[in-house]
Amino acid sequence: MRKKIVAGNWKMNKTFEEGLALASEIINIAKDEHIQKAILVINPPFIHLNALQKLIPQNTNVFLGAQNCYHQKSGAFTGEISVDMLKSIGVQYTIIGHSERREYFNETSEQLAQKINLLLEASITPIFCCGESLSIRESGEHLAYVAQQITEALFHLSAENLQKIVIAYEPIWAIGTGKTASSAQAQEMHAYLRNHLTSKYGETIAQSISILYGGSCNPQNAKELFACADIDGGLIGGASLKSRDFISIAQSF
Ligand code: PGA
Repeated sequence: MRKKIVAGNWKMNKTFEEGLALASEIINIAKDEHIQKAILVINPPFIHLNALQKLIPQNTNVFLGAQNCYHQKSGAFTGEISVDMLKSIGVQYTIIGHSERREYFNETSEQLAQKINLLLEASITPIFCCGESLSIRESGEHLAYVAQQITEALFHLSAENLQKIVIAYEPIWAIGTGKTASSAQAQEMHAYLRNHLTSKYGETIAQSISILYGGSCNPQNAKELFACADIDGGLIGGASLKSRDFISIAQSF
């Protein structure tokens, strides 16, 4: 059975104190209300990670993730954060290739493949993001475009390593816009991507990969999205900044 996952991407939001408060709320509600249907991953800014790790109790389904890492192992890369640094403070997930990083920081598929290799070496789970712009969707090329993103960044992996990846499909036109993909649009893409994985790795492996949906997912629309056969949870931006909304989404399976 593939895992159900709800991951919160805080992006560049929350001061240190605010972040500690938000994470504490999420951890406490998840514990008090026995949230067990999904794994929760909190992905705060880098400077929050070490302190937040200390707040997360043992034997919980709440995990800590980073929003990015550098694609080289170590060295003279001023301002960057390495996979080994993340590993050294207990980070277990890392978002890779978010559309904002691809667009504003010119991240390439080649760099993303390097990041994924480093993360897997460190036993950190990559949450690999993919998704098309509005103009690509309107051109009708969206399915092939997103499949190509997966080919470029993931298809060098062995079957064993591919099974360690989480994929997040995030149509760019739905991110932060309040305009979510319909459940039919999301399911169509997720099923297409799973078939794409099947073509290279076979049915059993493709069926074991969690594929999350991201893009204006909220407590109102999560239930319908998560009811789709190939949607295994969500990557949540705006709604992850409110503990109650984030938990409601995690209860939508
Ligand atoms: P959103 O962001 O939920 O605010 O649309 C999702 C994301 O960018 O991961």
